[in-house]
Amino acid sequence: MRRKIVAGNWKMNKTPSEAVELVNMLKPLVASDDVDVVFCVPAIDIIPAVEAAKGSNISIGAENMYFEESGAYTGEISPAMLTDAGVKYVVIGHSERREYFAETDATVNKKVLKALEHGITPIMCCGESLEQREQGVTMDFVRQQVKIGLQGVTADQAKTVVIAYEPIWAIGTGKTATTEQAQEVCGEIRKCIAEVYDDATAAAIRIQYGGSVNGKTAPDLFAQPDIDGGLVGGASLKEDFGNIVNYK
Ligand code: 13P
Repeated sequence: MRRKIVAGNWKMNKTPSEAVELVNMLKPLVASDDVDVVFCVPAIDIIPAVEAAKGSNISIGAENMYFEESGAYTGEISPAMLTDAGVKYVVIGHSERREYFAETDATVNKKVLKALEHGITPIMCCGESLEQREQGVTMDFVRQQVKIGLQGVTADQAKTVVIAYEPIWAIGTGKTATTEQAQEVCGEIRKCIAEVYDDATAAAIRIQYGGSVNGKTAPDLFAQPDIDGGLVGGASLKEDFGNIVNYK
């Protein structure tokens, strides 16, 4: 049985002091024995958020990371900086980073490999645009993102990776994919992992759905056989995040 994982992606929201307030507010609401709970926060919020989350079931994640160890990369954050600060997870290749910051499947792959090398669990994002869905190429596109993103990743490493399927048209729009649409693509991603690796790897890897998840939509989504939790934007900044974690 795969353990469910619910991660908040705060995006570019909350100053360091606001981050502490939000962690303290949500701490009692997201307490859970059977769901992994992750708050992926802006880089500058990581240290205060780790401190505020101490003694709780919340793990702190980053929203991005660079793929080099150190050096002349002004403005970037290295994997060692993240682990030293107490980070356990990192979102890689979010569609907003692909769209606004020129991330590609190739850079996503480099970052996934580097995160794994440092013992950070990558939450690797994929998902089609509305145009691609209408063109009927969703599965081809998502399969390609997943296959390239995992190039060079061993089966043992792949078992620890989290894949977040986030249809771009469902992000921040209030348009959640239907349960059937979300399950269909998450199931296809698992099939793709079985083809690239093997059945054991496909059975172990965790696949989240993301895109306008809230406390009302989470129960049906998370009950699907291939959906192992969610990557949550807007609702992760509110009390509703507690309902999503405790969706049962
Ligand atoms: P929303 O939940 O705000 O739609 O954002 C989803 C997302 O992009 C999480 O990474």
